Amino acid sequence: MLKEIKSEIYHLLHPKLTFLLTSIDKNGKPNVMTCAWATPVSDEPPIVIVCVSKEHHTTKLIRQTKEFVINIPTKKLLPAIWICGKSSGRDTDKFTKAKLEIINGKKVKAPLIKNCIGYIECRLWKAVDAGECYAFFGKVLSASVDDRYFKKGQWTEKSEIPLHLAGSKIVYFK
Ligand SMILES: Cc1cc2nc3c(=O)[nH]c(=O)nc-3n(C[C@H](O)[C@H](O)[C@H](O)COP(=O)(O)O)c2cc1C
Repeated sequence: MLKEIKSEIYHLLHPKLTFLLTSIDKNGKPNVMTCAWATPVSDEPPIVIVCVSKEHHTTKLIRQTKEFVINIPTKKLLPAIWICGKSSGRDTDKFTKAKLEIINGKKVKAPLIKNCIGYIECRLWKAVDAGECYAFFGKVLSASVDDRYFKKGQWTEKSEIPLHLAGSKIVYFK
């Protein structure tokens, strides 16, 4: 039987790939948050959108320095996914708290997170006011992937990338 729902409509679009979104402030201090609301919107030129609450520290940083990085983790980074999704860079150094090591990006100053298996470095193109979030459109400047887990243009079962279902439930691509 079909039942009309009034809340959590967005969960109809889950599970969603869950990643670590890095950004940097104007003084060079980086931040990282867990993010699931994202999508590609154009292949040529490559453009992606990440949706970030207006209240998050990440929003301030992306608006300040106009760049961000999508870091795609595996199951092994699950503790970091929760730490970076439950505390704010406003008052917490999440890299230390989640024991994350950073590496330099190719095109942006925002850092890449070591041991992730895919990276998309973006320059902010447009920020659209979308209710509680900004939809940040990013022009892709560079993308790289660990080819043990991504073959012929697609993730393999081996990748075990985390997919957020709802609340505290993460499932894995298998
Ligand atoms: C699995 C998961 C997915 C999340 N997805 C999003 C998201 O898509 N957009 C968003 O604004 N916040 C999302 N969050 C919440 C932020 O990660 C969280 O509020 C974080 O503390 C913000 O950090 P910041 O203040 O350092 O930017 C998610 C959290 C979790 C645990």
